[in-house]
Amino acid sequence: MTEVLILLSALFFVSSFKLFTKPSTARNANILAATGMLVGVALTIYTNIELNNLLFWSVILGGFLVGAILARLIKMTEMPELVALFNGLGGGASALIAFVDLNFNESSTISIFSLILGSITISGSFIAVLKLRNKLNIKSGYLLLVNITSLMFLGLLVFYIFDKASFTYLAIVALLLGALRVVLIGGADMPVVVALLNSLSGVAAMSAGFIVSNVILIIGGSLVGASGIILTLLMCESMNRNILNVLKGGFGNVSNTDNEYSKDPVSTTPEDVAISLSYAEKVIIVPGYGMAVAQAQSSVKDLTDMLKNMGIQVKFAIHPVAGRMPGHMNVLLAEVDIDYEDLIEMDEINKDFSDSDVCLIVGANDVVNPSARNNPDSPIYGMPILDADKSKQVVVIKRSMSPGYAGIANPLFVNENTKMLFSDAKDGLNQILNSFAQV
Ligand code: TAP
Repeated sequence: MTEVLILLSALFFVSSFKLFTKPSTARNANILAATGMLVGVALTIYTNIELNNLLFWSVILGGFLVGAILARLIKMTEMPELVALFNGLGGGASALIAFVDLNFNESSTISIFSLILGSITISGSFIAVLKLRNKLNIKSGYLLLVNITSLMFLGLLVFYIFDKASFTYLAIVALLLGALRVVLIGGADMPVVVALLNSLSGVAAMSAGFIVSNVILIIGGSLVGASGIILTLLMCESMNRNILNVLKGGFGNVSNTDNEYSKDPVSTTPEDVAISLSYAEKVIIVPGYGMAVAQAQSSVKDLTDMLKNMGIQVKFAIHPVAGRMPGHMNVLLAEVDIDYEDLIEMDEINKDFSDSDVCLIVGANDVVNPSARNNPDSPIYGMPILDADKSKQVVVIKRSMSPGYAGIANPLFVNENTKMLFSDAKDGLNQILNSFAQV
């Protein structure tokens, strides 16, 4: 029976991955994966714990309540922080299991491995939470400290081979290393770091699974470790960066001239945009980080409904790294009930731009920068982009000519078929909506 339940739990985990590939089935994927976890936890409790242990039940119940309340209270936009916090706690739990094992049993490689990874994960994740909440803005000056700590860590690792009792020092330095390393990385790179820490927490949990001979923990930890590293590498690929460059901090070499324009942009008014949209048959909306900053998703929804009621086809072009976290745009648009079917991924929608009458860019910049396609000198050259410039007309809503995350100019903004509506995304969209009354 135990083996059947382990198999069932593993099956739930693995099949949830398939369901996670589509937004429409992702909710069920979560339920399935959580059920797999519940089976694992129940089985572990049943086979290991005396059921009348009061302390145990109060701790379990306390954790259950805190988790449920946190998940209920947190806003969609705070999801990266919650994920980072959960990763950290997972890493911390694995480190504690390893610590207890090293204290009471003969030292083993797997325990020291789990202790190190778990310690790095918990301190690194807590720093990531602070950075995501903009509570920690140290930018540089710490490199020397990080290098000294890294050397201390390596020295202690060698020392540990000769003195197995020194694992506590190793854990303390690993905690320091995790925190200092993440302090150095730019705030905008936190999503990549959180994905990497997620992967580390998985590997730490897998090792803890070996320590306590828990097959479900080994399976679950391996899945998290493998999927986390794949997600990290995919995010880096979508930004055309490598993981070492992210961990080093900074976006690469951007000079002042990279943000200069050779001619002035053509600006437009909300009334003109409303007229262009009302004559269109096919409209593609490109959401970006600015939509998230302005919290303009409900205005986007209102405009979409209005256009659809007028018989105009509206689709959304979703770039894999638009915004600042994986799935950022999907989450915001799902929040306002935009139809999943209308959210089209980059590879699929790119062929539709040349056939669209208006491409409305809402606070996006780097993800529609044609330099990535045609300027080998550009820092983002090679990054896959949305081909918005191929649309018959392009309207960009943003507040100024300021650059995006990559810090470089976007030639699309001065293209012949582009007009700029200089405004906060939410205000601009609301003004376009108001103008429809007069069209
Ligand atoms: P960005 O290139 O960062 O551009 C966002 C634009 O939004 C800015 O140019 C800004 O211009 C505008 N904006 C800011 N506040 C606004 C507001 N209230 N109303 C209207 N516009 C506003 O965004 P993107 O195109 O989404 O690209 C994402 C970038 O982030 C990529 O370079 C990507 O590599 C990077 N990145 C992504 C991730 C993930 S996982 N998504 C993780 C790390 C880094 P104004 O100031 O002129 O308004």
